[in-house]
Amino acid sequence: MSTKQFFLSNSANETILIAKSIAQSLKNKEVLALLGQIGAGKTTFCKGMISSLCDIDENSIVSPTFTYLNIYTSKIGPIYHFDLYRIKSIEHFMQMGFDEFLKKEGICLIEWAEIISSLLDEATFIQFDHINETERKISLCQKETTWAK
Ligand SMILES: Nc1ncnc2c1ncn2[C@@H]1O[C@H](COP(=O)(O)OP(=O)(O)OP(=O)(O)O)[C@@H](O)[C@H]1O
Ligand SMILES: [Mg+2]
Repeated sequence: MSTKQFFLSNSANETILIAKSIAQSLKNKEVLALLGQIGAGKTTFCKGMISSLCDIDENSIVSPTFTYLNIYTSKIGPIYHFDLYRIKSIEHFMQMGFDEFLKKEGICLIEWAEIISSLLDEATFIQFDHINETERKISLCQKETTWAK
């Protein structure tokens, strides 16, 4: 994986602003694979991105930890917000029919994407690193195979 760009965020609000600014450059078909440990800031980032693209209050956005998927209508098409923390395997993901969403028009935001990484050759990976209580490093990366194309 090679890093294309990174941001340092000093607060949850800054992470929301970073997400809002990245949202402006999204096309209507993107897969964003969000990687990082518990509390690293993945959901906070999704709140920024979804609130910006759907024009809704960020406080109304919650992670679909138990339902796996929330769907929003945005100005650039549907947003599929996945939380795969409780998905056990790629087979489980596919049994749920979720692999179909990776091919659809729209934006896939996938928390805990590690588990399905082998399905995500065309994705942009966003790695969240917990530096300290308030600081996070947010790195945009792609698989080397994607760069070569
Ligand atoms: N710079 C920062 N960016 C994002 N969140 C931050 C930052 N500093 C502190 N926080 C806090 O860290 C927590 C991040 O939680 P969040 O739910 O976004 O993480 P997550 O990666 O989705 O975790 P999980 O794996 O449990 O889903 C929040 O409580 C937030 O307020
Ligand atoms: Mg989360």
